[in-house]
Parts: sequence; C-alpha cells; structure tokens
Amino acid sequence: MSSIETFATATQLRQRLNAVRRAGGRVAFVPTMGNLHQGHLALAREARGHGDCVVASIFVNRLQFAPHEDFDRYPRTFEADRKGLESCGVEILYAPDETELYPEPQSYFVQPPAAEDLEGAHRPGFFRGVATVVLKLFNQVQPDAALFGKKDYQQLMIVQNMVRQLALPVRIVRAETVRAADGLALSSRNAYLSAAEREKAPELYQGLAEIAAALRAGNHDFPGLESIFMQKFDKNQWKVDYVAVRKQSDLQLPSESDRELVVLTAARLGTTRLIDNVEVSI
Ligand code: PAJ
Repeated sequence: MSSIETFATATQLRQRLNAVRRAGGRVAFVPTMGNLHQGHLALAREARGHGDCVVASIFVNRLQFAPHEDFDRYPRTFEADRKGLESCGVEILYAPDETELYPEPQSYFVQPPAAEDLEGAHRPGFFRGVATVVLKLFNQVQPDAALFGKKDYQQLMIVQNMVRQLALPVRIVRAETVRAADGLALSSRNAYLSAAEREKAPELYQGLAEIAAALRAGNHDFPGLESIFMQKFDKNQWKVDYVAVRKQSDLQLPSESDRELVVLTAARLGTTRLIDNVEVSI
C-alpha cells in the first residue's frame, strides 16, 4: 500500500494534480470535515470507480457552523482519518488551514436558492457556508467527479443545483447512506450520544421507515403522516425540528402525481442533533 500524499496548500495540490491530468488521469474528489467513519470511507472507496486519482479533503468549515454550534468541539482525529483514507486507496489528502479557504477577513459568499428551507430553517447560514466552501474546494481541486452522501440529502441537492446553475464542470455522484446494524445513520455527531441515547437513536430511522411503509401502502396524506411522527417523537425524549415528505428532485412539496419522494427529518436527542432521510418510490 503506497502512502497517501498530504498537501496543505492549494498551490502544491494543483501542481500535483496538473501532473495527474497531463498524464490523462481523471480526478475524483471526496470533501469531508474529518472524524471519518465507515460512511465517509464508503464514499472514498466508491470514488475509485470515478477517477484514476482519488483526492479527499479534510476541512472543518467554520462558515457552516452557527456561533452556538459545535465548531470548537467538532471531533478532530487527523491521524486516524489519514490512515483510514490510505486504507481505502485514496492517493491524495488535501488538508488546508483556514487561510487557504478564507484568505481575507471579509468572505465572499455563495447564496444558494431555497437555503432557508428544512435544515436551513433551523441552521441559518448553514447552506451558504456549505455552498461557499464546496465551490472554493471545487476550484482548488478541479475534480472531474465529486462524491456526496445521501445522508445529507438537502446538501446534496443544493450542491447539484449549484453545479447546474453555475455550469461547473464536475459530475456529482450520489452515494447511499451507510447505517449501523440497528439502522442509525453513521455520523460524526453520534459520538456525542450517551450510551442510553445511542440505544434510543435508531428510533429516528424506524420512524422514517414507518412513514415510508405507509406511503408505499397508499397513504398519501403527507401532513397527516408528518403529524403522527411529530406526536410520537415529541413525547419520547426527542425534540423534532422537522419531518417532511418532499420530492426527491428538488425537495419541493409533492403533488398527487409525484412518485419519487423522500422523507427527511432532524431531531435532537438530549443535546445531540441527528438528521436522516429515506427515499420512497410510490
Ligand atoms: P461531512 O459531514 O464530513 O461529510 C462528508 C461527506 O460524507 C458528505 O458528502 C456526507 O453526506 C457523507 N456522509 C456522512 N455520513 C454518511 C453516511 N452515514 N453515509 C454516507 N455518506 C455519509 O458534509 C460535510 O462534511 C460538509 O458539509 C462538506 C460537504 C465537507 C462541506 O464542508
């Protein structure tokens, strides 16, 4: 196993990737914030199928954290992450510091449309932070393909929309959500759960699966299904931020004729905020 090459600056990274491209190689890119688990590593493995050279980045993007959120305590596990990526065959790790992405005190922002819906309603500025850093990373890495997980469904939709609207020359690959055996979607934030909370946490996915089953069985009363879920969780140590049945394509409200749906939720268990979703074809 050859060891992973690590770059801290965009200039060095670009020099290296220019050589890859001159030799006719395609670049596949997996952006992350580190603290990697099997969900991230599945993306890294899948990336192999989309490029001759796989680049992963680790950058905890301050711009997508609200002042009260967990930027400072977000888990940073660089050495373990590097080893994990290496074992998945990732050739290049880009680990910039903040000045590489935000070289000037006044930031330049990308403001995606519909950024105040769902997650955005509860995390003001979140998608502005995500879109801004993803665009900058795309400019620095210039990948042919970039992989994003369905776990962060609205993020994936916003990135795809940005790529379309700004005509970015990158192909977005949608990767399936990786779950623990009990159904809980893997997330860096699962590390914040107490043992008792971790036992309860799979209820969120079970709740989504129940809505999905009802939709498949022909119940298309979306608000009714959402309110059953809300009632069930709100008296059960959970605090639900939202649960919503939407169209897969653009996350708008579905009409009677829509068949490709996704049910999305975010809920807090104690102080930990979890998000999840399931796609449903009806
Ligand atoms: P992060 O939360 O580190 O996630 C990096 C990538 O891994 C995202 O595309 C995310 O959807 C994917 N991922 C996380 N958990 C997953 C799981 N259980 N199954 C499948 N994929 C999973 O998302 C971000 O970082 C940031 O917002 C970023 C895009 C890097 C911009 O800062």
